[in-house]
Amino acid sequence: MRAIVASVREAEPEAPVVVHYEDQALNDWQSVFQLTSGALPSPSVPTYMDGSIGNVYVLASGASFYERCFAPSSIDLAFCATAMHWLTDVPCGVPDALHSACSADAAAREAFAAQAAADWEAILLQRAAEIKPGGQLVVANFATDGEGQYLGTSRRVAQAMHPTFSELWLEVAGEEVHRATNFPNEYRSLEACTAPFAAGSAVTAAGLRLESAECDLVECPFLAAAGEV
Ligand SMILES: C[S@@+](CC[C@H](N)C(=O)[O-])C[C@H]1O[C@@H](n2cnc3c(N)ncnc32)[C@H](O)[C@@H]1O
Repeated sequence: MRAIVASVREAEPEAPVVVHYEDQALNDWQSVFQLTSGALPSPSVPTYMDGSIGNVYVLASGASFYERCFAPSSIDLAFCATAMHWLTDVPCGVPDALHSACSADAAAREAFAAQAAADWEAILLQRAAEIKPGGQLVVANFATDGEGQYLGTSRRVAQAMHPTFSELWLEVAGEEVHRATNFPNEYRSLEACTAPFAAGSAVTAAGLRLESAECDLVECPFLAAAGEV
C-alpha cells in the first residue's frame, strides 16, 4: 500500500488519494487504524500516513464483500488478499475432514465447488459495480493447485496443516462434534477462479475482463527462517 500510494502521488502530484479498507463489521478496526497512523508499538511498521505524502485519506467500510461495500463506480484500484475463500454458507457437511480442500468425499467436494462458484460470481458482480470504468481489481486467493497443494499442504513440508487440525479436533471433540464442524471455505482452483470470465457470462456483461491469472506456491518466511528451504 505504501508503494501504491507513493506511485500514485508521483503520477498525480495534486490528486487526493483515498485508501478505503474493507472487512466485516466485527473486524479489529482499532489495529487497522493504529497501523495506518503509525501508532502500533515497536517494532514499528512504516506507514504512508507518516506525513511524507500529503493529501492522503484513510477510510473503512465494515460491509461484507458479498454486499456493496463502496459507492458505484468509485474505486480505481481494488486489492484483496486471502479472504475470498470464505463462503456464504456450508452447502453440506464434510464427512471425512473439516475443510473441503482435504476431503476425499466426492459429493461434498462437488457441493462446495458449486457453492464457491456461485459465491465467487456474486463477489465479482459486486466489485464490477464499485470499480470505475478502466479501474482494476487484483485478488490473491488461497487456491488448490494441479498437484493438490493448498494452504499448509505442500511438497515442501512433511506435515499438513488442515489434516492435522482435523486429526486433533477428532481427538479433542469426538466424532459427533467433528462431523458437525466444517470450515465454510473453498480454496478454488485457477480454473474455478477464471471461469466467471468466460465469454457471455454475467461477470463479463457487468464489465469485468480478465487481464491475467496464475497459481503459485508462496514462500513461507517461517520455514525459510528455520533454514528448511
Ligand atoms: C486471512 S485474513 C486476511 C486479511 C488481510 N487481507 C491480510 O492479507 O492480512 C481474512 C480476512 O477476511 C475477512 N472476511 C471473511 N469473510 C468476509 C466477508 N464476507 N466480507 C469481508 N471480509 C471477510 C476476515 O474478517 C479476515 O479479516
